[in-house]
Amino acid sequence: MRTDAYGGSVENRARLLLEVTAAVVSEVGAQRTGIRLSPTSPANGVSSTAPQAQFDYLVEQLNALGLVYLHVVEGATGGPREVAPFDFGSLRQRFNNTYIANNGYDLSLATSTLIEDKADLIAFGRPFIGNPDLVERLKTDTALSAFDPTTLYGGGAAGYIDYPTLTEDGQGNH
Ligand SMILES: Cc1cc2nc3c(=O)[nH]c(=O)nc-3n(C[C@H](O)[C@H](O)[C@H](O)COP(=O)(O)O)c2cc1C
Repeated sequence: MRTDAYGGSVENRARLLLEVTAAVVSEVGAQRTGIRLSPTSPANGVSSTAPQAQFDYLVEQLNALGLVYLHVVEGATGGPREVAPFDFGSLRQRFNNTYIANNGYDLSLATSTLIEDKADLIAFGRPFIGNPDLVERLKTDTALSAFDPTTLYGGGAAGYIDYPTLTEDGQGNH
């Protein structure tokens, strides 16, 4: 464990992120600065024994910097939403500007989340890969296409510009 000013306590572990964010804000302005946090995601082997206290504090400090949005990966990135007990509403309460929720949202969960005022915006990741017209499909509650994991990071056109729209795959005509 680090024993300098950047390790140990909740305040110390937040220090690097807050210093970097403050530097970005001073350079480009808070209205051009947003942040994405993954409080409970085990991605890349990162974990926290007390994420609620850590991220509640962090978001209070980020709010004081006036950031334009807080984007939160709720759960394990690209995996289950319920990986550890955590109150994401607590983060939202501490942040005055736009709260963007991400991870495993579909039309139904996105709609209920917005109706219950648990988020201002929903971010979609994987559904956009296989559905270039995702917005249109969500608006019309049309089935989504799955994406092909074998073409991710391919560097070419396959899996990048060749997923069909509703019109192209024939579903748009009815
Ligand atoms: C191919 C692919 C690459 C991704 N790359 C990153 C990345 O570099 N950094 C990151 O924070 N998240 C990355 N993600 C995670 C997404 O931003 C998002 O958090 C995740 O897919 C959950 O949202 P979803 O359920 O809407 O897909 C990636 C996801 C996919 C599918």
